[in-house]
Amino acid sequence: MQSRRKLIVVSNRGPISYGREGGQRIAKRGAGGLVTALAPLVSHHDVTWIASAISDEDGAVAASGTIEETARDGSRYRLRLVAHPPAAYDLYYNVIANPALWFVLHGLWELKHDPGQDLGPAWDDGYVPVNRAFADAVLEELEHEPDAAVLFHDYHLYVAPALVRARRPDAALAHFTHIPWVGPDGWSVLPERIVRAIHEGLLACDVAGFHTQRWRRAFLESCAGLGLDPDERRVTAHPISIDPDEFDALARSEAVLARERELEADRPERLILRVDRTDPSKNVPRGLEAFATLLERRPDLRGRVGMLALLDASRQEIPEYVEERRRIEAASAAVEAGFPGALTLRIADDFPASLAAYKQFDVLLVNAVMDGLNLVAKEAPVVNRRAGVVALSVNAGAFEELGDWVVPVDPLDVSATADALEDALALGEGDRRARQEAIRAHVRDHDLEEWIGAQLADLDRASSIRRR
Ligand code: F6P
Repeated sequence: MQSRRKLIVVSNRGPISYGREGGQRIAKRGAGGLVTALAPLVSHHDVTWIASAISDEDGAVAASGTIEETARDGSRYRLRLVAHPPAAYDLYYNVIANPALWFVLHGLWELKHDPGQDLGPAWDDGYVPVNRAFADAVLEELEHEPDAAVLFHDYHLYVAPALVRARRPDAALAHFTHIPWVGPDGWSVLPERIVRAIHEGLLACDVAGFHTQRWRRAFLESCAGLGLDPDERRVTAHPISIDPDEFDALARSEAVLARERELEADRPERLILRVDRTDPSKNVPRGLEAFATLLERRPDLRGRVGMLALLDASRQEIPEYVEERRRIEAASAAVEAGFPGALTLRIADDFPASLAAYKQFDVLLVNAVMDGLNLVAKEAPVVNRRAGVVALSVNAGAFEELGDWVVPVDPLDVSATADALEDALALGEGDRRARQEAIRAHVRDHDLEEWIGAQLADLDRASSIRRR
């Protein structure tokens, strides 16, 4: 058990977002993997969390300054929501962070069409001012808690650390990137001044953290491409994890049990599951095509094997994401036309339904084109009740850890993805059970608490190197 520390956690999305129902303010769990992963931090440490005000009600909360909040397990933490001018936030989120940085770092940038607009003004009038607002909020919090460690998260916040460092040379600053990284050729598609500011922002931290050695190496290479020569001890790789006990408890909750009963009443003999946001990086259309290929090849599986795709609509302000959703729906319609009833596609934000399906899958398909880690590949086996097998993209960060126990998926090759599904379904009960047990043991041994401990140990080590 680690000792409690004062932490300032900084991320675009907060652990909760507010709305109004029947005239009352209500709090909803923040969306996305980062928040799921980081939320338990507040139970272990004294946390002040700084995040963007995203909903209208968040804006009202932001006006009250830093407030006290209570997590699901009763832990108290401080929450500071930062309201941004809508036009600046739009440029920051919908032009620079997603799609530009997201697409470049996932290898999805299409030089034929991208960038669709001049990125310089969106950087200057959106990304930088929003990062400055975050930096100002951090600086104010550091006034009250000068010895707190500041943990910045993800690609929304690449320049804020340098703005903090300029005013607080002594502060302990870490940044963790939850998505992949690319080498110098990957970055060469963006304006050099933007690329340089991003790298300098990360190097202003004591520690720049990544999930895997693959992304860490790419960062060191992209630094070298810019003539930057970071101290390699300050660039680290630790894959994030989950709190398995939290998932066990959620799996037993009434909301999940109710969803599980519905699913059990209607499930096929063998269930292939995928749980994703409707993000182009998740590669949903090729996964659906691979399922259709499997049923074409194997008439004996028709009527016995079904696929359940539980998707959460994502970033629908961005044209590429609207197009991706259309492609997913078209791919689903094609499967339905060929094999009526074999595929169930649901696009909804329904966490209990995802948890229930985690318990029930026989094969979990994670075929991301590229993925920083992919927490679904850790969450689902921990609560699964059927010795389910994970078919995992070789380009998901989690493959570096779980590769020995999964069926590997080459994500761009539809026939090979169908092979992987076929292989996963063919594994014997003993083999499936052994693989799942190995994944569970790994996740239990390398849980979120260990990851947090590693982040703080790296930060302590690196800040003492800087002070020497
Ligand atoms: O790490 C990827 C990430 O951007 C997280 O920050 C977030 O949890 C998730 O994807 C969802 O993205 P968004 O916040 O844009 O909905």
